[in-house]
Amino acid sequence: MCGIVAYVGDKDAFPILIKGLYRLEYRGYDSAGIALLNESLKIYKTRGKVADLENFMQDKDHKGKIGIAHTRWATHGEPNDINAHPHYSRTKKLAIIHNGIIENYGPLKEELISRGYRFTSDTDTEVLIHLIEDIRQNEGVDLPEAVRIALNQVIGAYAIVVISDDHPDMLVAARKGSPLVVGIGDNEYYLASDATPIVEHTKDVVYLDDEEIVTVKKGEKMLLKTIRNRVKTPYIQKLEFNLSALEKGGFEHFMLKEIYEQPRSIRDSMRGRLNARDGIVSLGGILDYEPKLLNTHRIIIIACGTSWHAALVGEYLLEELARIPVEVEYASEFRYRNPVIDETDIVIAVSQSGETADTLAAIELAREKGATILGICNVVGSSIARATHAGVYTHAGPEIGVASTKAFTAQVTILTLMALRLAIKKGTIETSRFQQIIDELEEIPRKVEETLNLDKEISSIAKIFTYARNFLYLGRGYNFPVALEGALKLKEISYIHAEGYPAAEMKHGPIALIDREMPVVVIATNRGPYDKVLTNIQEVKARKGKIIAIVTKGDKKVRELADYSIEIPETEELLVPLLATIPLQLIAYHIAVMRDCNVDQPRNLAKSVTVE
Ligand code: AGP
Ligand code: GLU
Repeated sequence: MCGIVAYVGDKDAFPILIKGLYRLEYRGYDSAGIALLNESLKIYKTRGKVADLENFMQDKDHKGKIGIAHTRWATHGEPNDINAHPHYSRTKKLAIIHNGIIENYGPLKEELISRGYRFTSDTDTEVLIHLIEDIRQNEGVDLPEAVRIALNQVIGAYAIVVISDDHPDMLVAARKGSPLVVGIGDNEYYLASDATPIVEHTKDVVYLDDEEIVTVKKGEKMLLKTIRNRVKTPYIQKLEFNLSALEKGGFEHFMLKEIYEQPRSIRDSMRGRLNARDGIVSLGGILDYEPKLLNTHRIIIIACGTSWHAALVGEYLLEELARIPVEVEYASEFRYRNPVIDETDIVIAVSQSGETADTLAAIELAREKGATILGICNVVGSSIARATHAGVYTHAGPEIGVASTKAFTAQVTILTLMALRLAIKKGTIETSRFQQIIDELEEIPRKVEETLNLDKEISSIAKIFTYARNFLYLGRGYNFPVALEGALKLKEISYIHAEGYPAAEMKHGPIALIDREMPVVVIATNRGPYDKVLTNIQEVKARKGKIIAIVTKGDKKVRELADYSIEIPETEELLVPLLATIPLQLIAYHIAVMRDCNVDQPRNLAKSVTVE
C-alpha cells in the first residue's frame, strides 16, 4: 500500500534510495527500511520517518550499487522495527520488500512452519520470502522462476522486489493490485511504486500490469513475463515532468485520488474476509470474541465525525441482519454522560486514524466499567487499535485528504461483513438471502467504478450550485446516514452551510428554510421507503426548493420531479450507502474546487483530532 524504491546500476544505491523514499513520503507510512548489497546483503530498518532511517544509517555501511527500499503502512503486525521491510529469507541470502496484502498468508505460514521455518516478524510479507527461497532450494530453479512459482501460490495484492546476494546486478519484481514502475537509465534500472523517485534520473519508464514479473539486470535488457510464464514486450513510455501531479497519481487533489481509489479500497477491506463463491464471511481479528458478540444483549458503537456516520449505517445493518440492539454514540458525549455500561456490554470503536482523543477517552471509560472493546481502525498499531481487546483493520490504505472518503466506505464494508457474519452464525438470516447479499457485495467495487463514471455529469451539476449559501441533504433508512455524510463533506471542504436530515423529519423544522434558493439533495434510491421519499420530494417541490436527486438507474418517478438526477447502479437496499455516498463526495469536491477552497487541507480542520 505504501512505497517501494529499488536501484541497480553503476551509481551508489544509498543516496538514490533514501531520496526516493523521501519522494514517496506523501503516500503516508509508519516505518522505513533499506537493504544494500555489497559483499553481503545488509538490512537497515526502523519505525518512524525516513529521516529517522537516515539518522540510524549515518554510521552504517552505505556501500552498494544495488539495493531495495521501502516505506511500510502496516496491514499485518504493528508498525515496529522488526515488522518494517525489507525481510530476509532464512539464509539471509534473499530479501524482499512488499506493498499490499497476502490474503492466504495464514495457511502458507502454517505449511512453512511445519517444514521448520521460523518467523521473525508478524507480517504477511515474510511468508513470501521464505516461500521463494524454499522453491529455489527444493526445485533447483533460478530466482526469477522461484518468484514466479511462488506468486502462483499467493492470493492477494502485491508489488514486490526481491534482491539476492547470488546476483549482485539483478532485481526481480512483480505486481498485482499494487502499482510498480520500472525506470530505464543508462546501464541502470530503477523500480518504484510511482514515478516520483524516478523522474529526476530517467524519463523512460515501463508501468507493470497486474500479474507481470520483471527481471532487471545491469547491462542487459529487461525481461518481462506474466506469472503464467508468457513472455511480453515491455512498452516504454516517456514521463511528463510534474512531480506534484505524479504524487497525486495524476489527480488534482489527494481527496479526488482517494475518492477514485474506492473500488480498490473496498476490495481490500473484503480481501481474505469475503468468499462469495464458497458462501463464507469471516473476520479473523475478532474471532475470539465471536461467542460474546453472538450472545450480547446490545452493542454500543462509539465514534466521531465521518466514522460516526459509518457507525450509524452499522446500527441499521446489525439490527436488521443480526437482530442485535445497537446504540451509536458520539464518543465526546459518551465519555462525559456517565453511561450505563458493564461487563456484559460490547463497545465497538470506529476510527480512521485510531488517534481521535474523544474516542480513546470513551474506550478508557468503557474499559474501566468492564466492557469488551473492539476496534474498527484504518491505521494499524494506532492508539485505538492498541487500546481495544481485538479488532478489524479496514485496509483502506493511508488517507491523506483531511475529508474522509475511502475510510468511510471501508468502515461501512467492515460493518456489513460483521453484520452478515453474526447473522449467519445466529441464524437470523436465511442461507439463500445471505448468499444473495454477499454475491451482491462482491459486485460493489465494480458498481462503485460505474458510479465514478458519472463524475463529469456530477461536476456540471455542482457548477450550478457553487454559490449556494445553504444545502439540505435528505435520506431515509440506510440513506439517512448517507445524507449526514454528504452534508458533512460539503461543509468541511466548501464552507457552505449544509445539514443532513431524515427526510420525514424535515417537516418538523427545516422545511421552513426551503425556498427557490435552497438546493436539497435527496437520496431516493428504489428500495426501502421509496414512496415515502417521493412524498418528501413533493413537499420540497411545493415550496420551490431545487431537488438534486440520487436515484437508481432507470428511475422514472423521482426523475420527473427532480431538477437534477444522478443515476447510480441498482443494488440491495442495505448496500446502497456504499454507492450513494460516492456522488455526494464528488458534489462536495467539485463545489469546493470551484470555490477555490483548499480541498485537501480545509481551514480549521486536522486529519486526526488528538485533542478534546
Ligand atoms: C471526516 O471528513 C472528518 N475530517 C472528521 O469528521 C473525522 O471523521 C473525525 O475526526 C473522526 O476521525 P477518526 O475516524 O480518525 O477517528
Ligand atoms: N502487508 C505488508 C505488511 O503489513 C505490507 C504493507 C505495505 O503495503 O506497506 O507489512
